[in-house]
Amino acid sequence: MTPQPLPMRVPAAGLPARVRIHEVGPRDGLQNEKATVPTDVKAAFVHRLAAAGLTTVEATSFVHPKWVPQLADAEDLYPRLADLTAEGAVDLPVLVPNIRGLERATALGARRVAVFASATETFARRNLNRTVDESLAMFAPVVAQAKNDGLHVRGYLSMCFGDPWEGRVPLPQVVRTARALADMGCDELSLGDTIGVATPGHVAALLDALAQDGIPVDRLGVHFHDTYGQALANTLAALQHGVTTVDASAGGLGGCPFARSATGNLATEDLVWMLQGLGVETGVDLDALVATSVWMADRLGRPSPSRTVTALSHKE
Ligand code: HMG
Ligand code: MG
Repeated sequence: MTPQPLPMRVPAAGLPARVRIHEVGPRDGLQNEKATVPTDVKAAFVHRLAAAGLTTVEATSFVHPKWVPQLADAEDLYPRLADLTAEGAVDLPVLVPNIRGLERATALGARRVAVFASATETFARRNLNRTVDESLAMFAPVVAQAKNDGLHVRGYLSMCFGDPWEGRVPLPQVVRTARALADMGCDELSLGDTIGVATPGHVAALLDALAQDGIPVDRLGVHFHDTYGQALANTLAALQHGVTTVDASAGGLGGCPFARSATGNLATEDLVWMLQGLGVETGVDLDALVATSVWMADRLGRPSPSRTVTALSHKE
């Protein structure tokens, strides 16, 4: 007798019916690989992720190629993905730090862009070569021009829960930068636990503080790293607070080349497994996604750190 598929679907109270997964593997994952992945492998990766049912796949970055050489092929990659956006079924957001980046992205037809701020001064300096306020001043015209051109703009906010150089990050400091990104016109904010130190009570406290500041939860997404094994617990806390957009990276790829101790992002497969069990729709075909991460791990020459990928790819 064939066993019933697992996990068993047992809904829990207080959760959304559907979650939009913002897949960041091709960008946040591959930007951190020591070896640069060939462009045709990246293109195949994005196509496989879309075929697995992911409708938002962050494809690459239009940053300075010397800062992130792993993504220096953005001009070559993005046009190879045009078939995905043509029918409107898949969004392919890209990172743009400044007007130069925005112009490079829109010249290729990008319709969704993301700026990326930091809640802390040290990371702003290391990631953007600017103070927090200087980086916000760099983003303001980018967001204004993108909104004027009818683009969707995401505002990342990194180091929301802790910083490897500065330690604790006070909630008001996070709220201040989130407020600046919201006031600038970002459609959506993604709250980054860049080094994975958050715990669920901390997540709830930040979401409460943002709500008190008048930033509605439907404009928020969460971006957890699994350094201390807390990413799924933190995600559940966020969902219980009304968040419905969750960032994740296929196979748990990722980290950040500019943040000491940042290990992999929450693995998309681990997220989908939990949401399937909870009866929360994602539209993702877990088997196809696992097969994609196993394929990518073969290309990278090391196994995926995702527990779910490991379990489902060793069924015998
Ligand atoms: P800078 O050196 O201060 O740049 O870098 P600048 O404005 O002084 O310009 C210097 C030169 O760079 C100029 O060329 C510009 O044209 C060129 P020159 O006149 O000397 O020949 N330039 C560019 N070239 C191509 N594309 C561009 C661009 N901009 C300037 N867009 C800059 C400032 C922001 C450009 C640089 O610091 C940079 O590219 N940083 C990006 C770093 C990055 O991508 N980090 C990873 C992001 S991940 C993250 O933030 C966390 C996140 O994943 C969430 C989480 O996990 O928490 C989002
Ligand atoms: Mg990340």
